Amino acid sequence: SKGEGVLAGRKVVITAGPTREAIDPVRYISNRSSGKMGYALARAALAQDAEVILISGPVSLPAPPGVEMRHVTTAQDMHEATHDCIGNADIFIAAAAVADYRPADEKTQKIKKSGETMSIELVRCPDILQSVAALPRAPFTVGFAAETENVDEYARGKLENKKLDMIIANRVGADCGFDTDDNAANVFWSDGEQRFAKTQKSELANRLIALVAIAPEHICGVIVSVETAVRTNTVGDNHIELLLLELAACILVDVLGFSRKTDRERRRLQRRY
Ligand code: PMT
Repeated sequence: SKGEGVLAGRKVVITAGPTREAIDPVRYISNRSSGKMGYALARAALAQDAEVILISGPVSLPAPPGVEMRHVTTAQDMHEATHDCIGNADIFIAAAAVADYRPADEKTQKIKKSGETMSIELVRCPDILQSVAALPRAPFTVGFAAETENVDEYARGKLENKKLDMIIANRVGADCGFDTDDNAANVFWSDGEQRFAKTQKSELANRLIALVAIAPEHICGVIVSVETAVRTNTVGDNHIELLLLELAACILVDVLGFSRKTDRERRRLQRRY
């Protein structure tokens, strides 16, 4: 790669695959995620020259060459690995199917068969996506919504409740979403949406990464970083150049409509200034 992709210089953290929550030393609660969607996103981001960290639950896929891997098992492990490397990330994409609940008490010995019924008490796992979106310097945060019904409505709810920048909704069921080679997605953000018809996950991932890369936040981010660079060292006394640059930024942000941002995005931009 020549470093000319749309994500050159950007750090992208992606979660993929299922988590496993132990019941006893030989049993666990998990789901049908194969990791294919998340791994495809990691490859697509790498192809656009991003620095990519892929935090993966247990899957049987090979590590994409060039991607930094973090292998985890439980939701708690994934939560810790994510916060270990999210510090200076520009983009976070949560494609993993993380357990919402885990057994309250992991037995140290194999549970023996006894009564006709048994129950396992479950407790909530940390919500990784929500915790990243709530960081004071949160990256551009993209969630997935895996739904079997009311796909768009539930996805929009997650976008709002978890205060995400973008959500990728996919229908999941016996024959779609999980553990298939293709997928379709409806993507929502504060003031827009885009629908992607069913295609190979690798192709869908390329399109999703292209969409994430041109999100207004980044375009503004680039302008702001150029400006900051100019302010702090390069231009020095050349006020005219600085003024021209500021004017260009204003035109892009205010006149050309890159400023249709949520309050949260605005606050972020202000902090960068
Ligand atoms: O892995 P594949 O077989 O290729 O299948 C792909 C997929 C269907 C798993 C993927 O496209 C997908 O939809 N991933 C999200 C699955 C999911 O758990 O969705 P959810 O609607 O339950 O969760 C919403 C979001 O919160 C997700 O971004 C999830 O990663 C995140 N989450 C959920 C629970 C939790 N404890 N922490 C989280 O971060």
